[in-house]
Amino acid sequence: MVSTSFDEIRVEGLYFHYEKKPALKEVGFSAKKGRITAVIGPNGAGKTTLFKVIDLLARASSGRVFAGGKDVLALPPAEARAWRQSISFVMQEPYLFNMSVRQNLAVPLKMRKIPRSKIDRIVQDAIIKFGLGEIAEKKPFRVSSGERKRAGLARALVTEPALLILDEPTASIDPEASYLIEQYLKDLRAEGRTIIMMSTHDLFQARRLADDVALLFKGELIEAGTKDDIFDRPRNEITRKFVNGEILVENVRESCEALGRAPSTLRSTG
Ligand SMILES: Nc1ncnc2c1ncn2[C@@H]1O[C@H](COP(=O)(O)OP(=O)(O)O)[C@@H](O)[C@H]1O
Ligand SMILES: [Mg+2]
Repeated sequence: MVSTSFDEIRVEGLYFHYEKKPALKEVGFSAKKGRITAVIGPNGAGKTTLFKVIDLLARASSGRVFAGGKDVLALPPAEARAWRQSISFVMQEPYLFNMSVRQNLAVPLKMRKIPRSKIDRIVQDAIIKFGLGEIAEKKPFRVSSGERKRAGLARALVTEPALLILDEPTASIDPEASYLIEQYLKDLRAEGRTIIMMSTHDLFQARRLADDVALLFKGELIEAGTKDDIFDRPRNEITRKFVNGEILVENVRESCEALGRAPSTLRSTG
């Protein structure tokens, strides 16, 4: 049994293929309790795929993911279920059921067979903590996308996961809603009980939030280190270009060229 409390998760030599196309190649890094580890990289780098592998939604071709002294990719089914119950993965568009936000928050607790009275109390506490009072009785399709992201985060945390994985937690929501989410993540870090792993393509957000950073590029782990290592003392040329915003420009140029036109503002840069 994987212990439900572990201080570190360590990814080693991870490969993943969609059909024959490699999406992860020899990916390795670690993330620690009480710290926010940002997985950064342009679109298509493999961030979402990496998270799916850790949450056992996608099966790696090879490699290991260690937590609590065990490789979670090689667990028998019952222990694999226990692993999935000890972590929470918030997808980029959190999948909320067509029931009230309050009922949504209760779902993971019901799945874990927590007594009804306890569920009501935990859910009510989460509604207050995450400022969901006004939308608690509404169905998800009737609330804003920022509120849906906040509800998704609240639902991920009612089970007090040892590892919280967030895929682009503030993509496509307005600055105020993003600010709130960032505050909750900082509070969670301060509590010191959770390994927080998040993807973002927003370099400013990575700088604001991350303690540690892992850069993925075209499926490869280019460099991992503390935020200062990556942003201020990059050892790799790709890292240096990425944190300076040059890779994103190249990506835009590649996309434009694929469409048969290069915008003049980009043509001049090389
Ligand atoms: N379901 C899929 N089938 C085939 N290829 C996929 C699928 N999902 C993602 N990919 C490809 O795998 C690579 C990594 O994608 P993804 O993990 O979504 O990257 P990111 O989250 O960093 O944008 C990309 O080249 C993407 O096109
Ligand atoms: Mg993604």
